[in-house]
Amino acid sequence: MSAASLDLAGGAADASGETRSIPEPRRSGTQIKQPASTLEVAYEACLVDSYAPERADLRGLYEKAKEAQWNAKSALPWETDVDPEAENMPNQLIPIFGSSVWDRLDKKTELPRLRRHATSYLLSNFLHGEQGALMATAQIVSAAPSADAKLYAATQVMDEARHVEAYDRYLREKVEMVYPVSPYLKTLLDEILTERRWDMKYLGMQILVEGLALAAFGLLSQTANEPLVKEIVRMIMIDEARHVAFGVMTLRGAYDDMTEGELRDREDFIVESSRLMRDRFLMQEVWENLDLPVEECLEVTKTSPIMLTFQSLLFSKIVPNVKRLGLLTPRVRKGFEELRVIQYETWDASA
Ligand SMILES: [Fe+2]
Ligand SMILES: [Fe+2]
Repeated sequence: MSAASLDLAGGAADASGETRSIPEPRRSGTQIKQPASTLEVAYEACLVDSYAPERADLRGLYEKAKEAQWNAKSALPWETDVDPEAENMPNQLIPIFGSSVWDRLDKKTELPRLRRHATSYLLSNFLHGEQGALMATAQIVSAAPSADAKLYAATQVMDEARHVEAYDRYLREKVEMVYPVSPYLKTLLDEILTERRWDMKYLGMQILVEGLALAAFGLLSQTANEPLVKEIVRMIMIDEARHVAFGVMTLRGAYDDMTEGELRDREDFIVESSRLMRDRFLMQEVWENLDLPVEECLEVTKTSPIMLTFQSLLFSKIVPNVKRLGLLTPRVRKGFEELRVIQYETWDASA
């Protein structure tokens, strides 16, 4: 366990007993809760009157999903002892790595603490994203216009519940610290959940959010040194690949006959959502909580070559899938060029 002990009044005390005044995010065991937020949602629920299979590809995915169910409680090595302040993920993945702020950190006290916060921030936002996916998929069950899509989407609701369960348990039991949702991610999830048009829900959740998650989980599973988180991410990724495939299968052809105005809404949505997803990794809340120079940290995060590579890799699934849907139009292309992710258009999305 860490050198920091928990102070449920909101501060933290180090091993010497010296109380720090740095505000901490919510930790397990506290009774402090984030205020619950609510959303007004409205979309068309579709009832079908024919249940016979019509799309063999979607039924195939449904069958695959049923076979691939697993239990997060029994399939994962929860007995693993985890030190949340160890280098469980390479230090290089911490955005300020190698900067002058990094050099000034006390490597025995401040660096381990930063590692724990960075892990918590990253996984907490995965967790909140999983809740968004759980809710969006439940909406898709209702909004999908065919029995094939409804049945498949129902399996995804269970997948997302399992993902929430796994990340939540890891954060509470192993990291013992949970960050609130990043405002950028919250904006995007709220947009998807309140969107009326069914295809935009798919586009937002199944192509953009899931596509980014798949790339982020891939990086994490390849680089993590801690066996439990590595296994959690590996298992979740198997499900997520199916989720992206569902989006691509369902939306293929949906944009072929759209009017210019309708298409413009989709283009704006893709570009705006992509910006929000990039900015969610700025980790501003971590710099603030640790009393680090926020502006300097943000500057490093936005300019460090490692971070730029990392941020752009997150789009390696999104760009080719947007292209497969026929949505890599000149306006979207320009948006992706500005985000410096257009190079992935020729990559295999593996979905
Ligand atoms: Fe998920
Ligand atoms: Fe998913």
